[in-house]
Amino acid sequence: MSPLVSDLHLYDIANVKGVAADLSHCNTPSQVLDFTGASELANCLKGVNVVVIPAGVPRKPGMTRDDLFNINANIVKTLVEAVADNCPDAFIHIISNPVNSTVPIAAEVLKQKGVYDPKKLFGVTTLDVVRANTFVAQKKNLKLIDVDVPVVGGHAGITILPLLSKTKPSVSFTDEEVHELTVRIQNAGTEVVEAKAGAGSATLSMAYAAARFVESSLPRS
Ligand code: 2OP
Repeated sequence: MSPLVSDLHLYDIANVKGVAADLSHCNTPSQVLDFTGASELANCLKGVNVVVIPAGVPRKPGMTRDDLFNINANIVKTLVEAVADNCPDAFIHIISNPVNSTVPIAAEVLKQKGVYDPKKLFGVTTLDVVRANTFVAQKKNLKLIDVDVPVVGGHAGITILPLLSKTKPSVSFTDEEVHELTVRIQNAGTEVVEAKAGAGSATLSMAYAAARFVESSLPRS
């Protein structure tokens, strides 16, 4: 992580023991502070500049991200209310699915609280970019480090729009390749959900993508 990050406040909504101890062993300049339970939420958020919300339940095979709405929407609403009350100037990065709905919910909560700044609220869809880069590099035998495929839109099925024609370095695709790559990128989350067979959805690649996005979006002074 960036040396700009000082402390990491971990709010463990599911009270999974040991997460803070685990994270505190990473050789970064961050000190990990552990908070659990509704009574500790305000203290967790006081003075915080960047909030990352990955909380919620993951998909099981056969589920769409929308099937998570009822549980995750409430979790995001509660957490964003607390952000608005305790660190209204913070950047907020939302990973909890369905991102296409949880981000608008967060926006409405922030508007109600009178602290909405659209430049500070993000839905984290970087995993779609990470996947697009990987799949295109594999398909076209490119050095992965050089590949950059812009992906716009949302973070679910056909709302994920890889702009393959804008790939850098410039590369041409047949119509068949465009179709195959687009479908794979749009369904890559489901590929992981099925491979995990009920044990959850993407976590490691998502953590990588989220770290990449959060670090690149941190304000530099
Ligand atoms: C994914 O695309 C979990 O939504 C996440 O894999």
